[in-house]
Order: sequence, then C-alpha cells, then structure tokens
Amino acid sequence: MASRISTALLLLVPCSGAAEVTYHQDIAPIVYQNCTSCHREGESAPFSLSNYEEVSRKAKTIARVMDGRYMPPWHASIDHLPFRDMRRLSDEEIARFASWIEAGKPEGDPATAPSLPDFPKGWQLGEPDLVVTMASAYEVPADGPDIYRNFVLPLDLPEDKWVKAVELRPSARSVLHHSLFFLDDSGTARSLDGKDGKPGFSGMGFRKSGSLGGYVPGVTAQKLPGDLARPLPKGSDIVLATHFHPSGKVENEQTTIGLYFADAPPSRQLQEVQVPPGFGRGAGIDIPAGESNYVIEDTFTLPVDYEAISVGGHAHYICETMKMTATLPDGEEKVLLEITDWDMDWQDTYYFTEPVILPAGTVIKSVISYDNSANNPDNPHTPPQRIKWGRESTDEMGSLTLVGVPVEADDFTRLSRATKVERAKILSNLGRELINSRVASRLPQIMKSLDKNRDGNLDASELPERMRGALLLKLDTDGDKSLNPSELQALKDWLENLQAGENV
Ligand code: HEC
Repeated sequence: MASRISTALLLLVPCSGAAEVTYHQDIAPIVYQNCTSCHREGESAPFSLSNYEEVSRKAKTIARVMDGRYMPPWHASIDHLPFRDMRRLSDEEIARFASWIEAGKPEGDPATAPSLPDFPKGWQLGEPDLVVTMASAYEVPADGPDIYRNFVLPLDLPEDKWVKAVELRPSARSVLHHSLFFLDDSGTARSLDGKDGKPGFSGMGFRKSGSLGGYVPGVTAQKLPGDLARPLPKGSDIVLATHFHPSGKVENEQTTIGLYFADAPPSRQLQEVQVPPGFGRGAGIDIPAGESNYVIEDTFTLPVDYEAISVGGHAHYICETMKMTATLPDGEEKVLLEITDWDMDWQDTYYFTEPVILPAGTVIKSVISYDNSANNPDNPHTPPQRIKWGRESTDEMGSLTLVGVPVEADDFTRLSRATKVERAKILSNLGRELINSRVASRLPQIMKSLDKNRDGNLDASELPERMRGALLLKLDTDGDKSLNPSELQALKDWLENLQAGENV
C-alpha cells in the first residue's frame, strides 16, 4: 500500500524535463535536515543516516516510514498554531525520495553534495554550566515489571540558581523510559539513597520542593524562551524519578544531566496548568475491557491573563487521541494541541513559535480518548482487561500540560492557588475510593495505627505517601504539615458527607 501512495504523490510533482534525481543533489538535503540530528553516532536512533551508503542501504524502509509519517517523529497536528522546530516532511519531499528509489538510487556528483550540518557532538545545547552524573550505575534486569527508582544528585550549590534547560544523557537509552527532575531541599532523599544496597531508592518518601521538568522519549532539550528560568535554590538536591522498561537485555544506567543557568532571575515565575491535574489521578479513569472509545475530559478556567509557551501530553499505551483547546472570553477557540495518533514512545513538548496570550476567563479544555479493544495493536493485554489509573505503563494516565507565565508578574499567586484548588479535586476521588474500599468505617482504628508516635496528631511522615500531598492540601487548615484531632474530625466529616452523596 505504501508504494501506491508514493506513486500517487509522484504524479503531483512537477516534472521539469527528465532531470535525474540524485542522492547528493536531491536526497542528502532532506536527510541531513530532517533525520541526521538523531540518526548519527551517539544519538537516540539505532542507526546512522549520514552518507550515501547508509541511506541507500535502508532506502526501502526509509520510504515506508516516510510514507506512513512514522519518521521524522512528530505527533502534533500541523493544522493549528505553529510550533518551533516542526519536524515534518512535505508531500513533495516524500515523493522525491520515492522517485529516487524508482530511478535506481543514483548517487550523482559528490561535488553537488551539501556538507553535513555541523551537528553538536554530545550536548545538544552546547557545554552546560554544570554537569552531574549518578554516583554509580543502576542495573536494570533483562525482564520483569517496570521499575520506578529515584536517584539523588547532590549539588551543594553555594548560591541560588535559575535554570534555563536541563539536558539528560542516558547511558542505556533502550531501558530509560522517562525521568522527572525533582528538587529536595530537606536532605531526606539523600538519607534514603542506597538504603537497600542498590543505588537510589524506591517510593516517593521525600517532599518535593520544586521541579526542573523532565526527560521523556523523543523530547528535544530546549532552553526556556526570553528571560524565563526555573528556580534552583541553594541547598537543593536533584532527584531523578526514573521509570525503566526492561529491554530483554541486562543494562546499566548511569544518567548524566547538564544544567544551563540564566544570568539573572526571571521577571515572571512559570506556572504549569495541567488539565486534568495529577496526570488524570482524579479523573476517574476506569476503562472496561473491550471499550474502544473511552473518553475523559476536564476544564480549567484561567483566573488571570496567561502567556502559554509550550504544551505536551502524557498517557500510556492505549490512549488514542488528545486535544487541548482554549475558549477565549470573546468566544474565539484556539486548539493548543491535537494528537490523533498518540504514541507513548514519543511524548514531546511542543513550543509555540509565538507565546499564546490567553485572557482571564479563558476555558482550557482537555479531551482524551482510549481504545481498550482487541483491535488496538498497542493494547498491552490480550485479551483486553479493565484498565484503571495507575503508575505502571500497563495502567493508564491522561493529561495535557501548558507551561507558561502570568502576563502580570503580580498575578502569580492567584494563578498558583487556582491550580492547587484544582489539584485538590483529586482528593475527592481518593475519598470515594476510600469509601468503596470500606476504609471509611474503620477510619478511627486506621488513624490510630498510623499515629506511630501516639501523640494524637498525624504528622506528614505518618500519612500514607500517595495521599500525603492531597490530604494536607485539603485538611491541614493551620498549615503545620500535621493533622491535629480537629482536622482529623474534618476528615471524618468529609468522608461521611461524600458517602451521603454531597459534593464536597
Ligand atoms: C527525533 C529523533 C529522530 C529523527 C529526527 C528521525 N528519527 Fe528515525 N528513528 C529514531 C529512533 C529513536 C528510532 C528507533 C525507535 C523506533 O523505531 O521507533 C528510529 C527509527 C527509524 C527507522 C526504523 C523504523 C523501523 O520500522 O524499523 C527508520 C527507517 C528511520 N528511523 C528513518 C528516519 C528518517 C528517514 C528520518 C528523517 C526523515 C528520521 N528517521 C528522523 C529517531 C529519529
């Protein structure tokens, strides 16, 4: 079928005489521009495409992946707002490649060859201001379940810094699924590191004091535009929260990251807007086996004028489509991101060419669909099984995230508070789960057993890790990071109200 499409496209190409299509003159420019940045020594792609022999040897496969638009990888629809560094071949370029194969892959005159672009070796963004590497490698077994592991990179910075970009260089690319860069200013992560005899630690037993973004497959490291930068206060360690996906072969991962600093603090603070929040934790994702079009949606109304600079999505295997739209107060609708063929392996962050201004009152809406039928070749279960929200890649998640700043620097607190209130919705969902699991009726005993030091309060460290943040956000009214008896009473009241069907 692929070749039929190519032939059809070929007819669209204006034939200026029978000028021969040659590698050096016609093909090399396409490949060097669109493929070689990844397809070269030391980069993410499994083989190199940097000269006639390499391209010619793979020509048939290349034609196939170009036709299907599998390569270059780019999943955002190009029908909406333009993005920076769009990786997309024109129909004419695809047809030109096909006609070169048809002509017998002539090499042509090397004198007409464009020179290979001057690709950066190693760091894509140039020499970082600070390079940190995991103290020792972590061994990922050949098979078995996915592994979540945190690795502490102690920084000991003598002063506050502002970070424009973080570039990650894995040592075992094939098993590193993703890595999020959290900050810990308490030293807790350091004290947990290596406790079980292996590098790093499992679980989320530290309080995140900040974030520097993350690395996911297919992401291209980018510097934040203008004077924007993320805070990295002195005394903070970086914690890499890494997800490994065993590859069939034992691999050792020893991640290195490069940090790029800004010269001065930014004039405005970044605030992410994630819809639904918590990667869909509270969206009630519960997909029946066989369901081919399961849809979740959520909205968030911007309380202040907002300037969006990038957008990205997150989900696992069976997600099919995602779309984020902004409906402005005057009724105008802007599509911020549309992905019609979600692929978990390519979760890029898309930077708008121009910041998108969204006035206060704009409604941000995310719609995400899943196919849990046997017809979905990406379904991790045969036969299909009920799939709920969860951290394993065979569970599901779903959210779209805008990164941006309030137009007015002073609006930061209002915006930040509004996103926190939004995240508190997650707790209502956790509450329903608690009721369903009949935990509610045993609450007094459970509280007693959680109160390890028997002081009548539940301190942060005594709360179950996965609910800690949400519980404190909703119930810790005096903000002392501990739940006292009257706050615990509020928890009981709240669960009883939820049980009675009141929307709290
Ligand atoms: C952003 C990085 C990136 C760019 C740009 C890129 N590739 Fe790839 N390519 C990869 C990676 C990583 C793989 C291996 C994983 C996979 O197959 O999905 C791959 C795999 C391939 C394969 C093997 C697919 C298969 O089914 O066996 C071909 C062929 C290919 N690329 C051709 C190209 C061509 C041609 C271009 C340019 C038009 C290109 N790639 C651009 C990263 C890239």
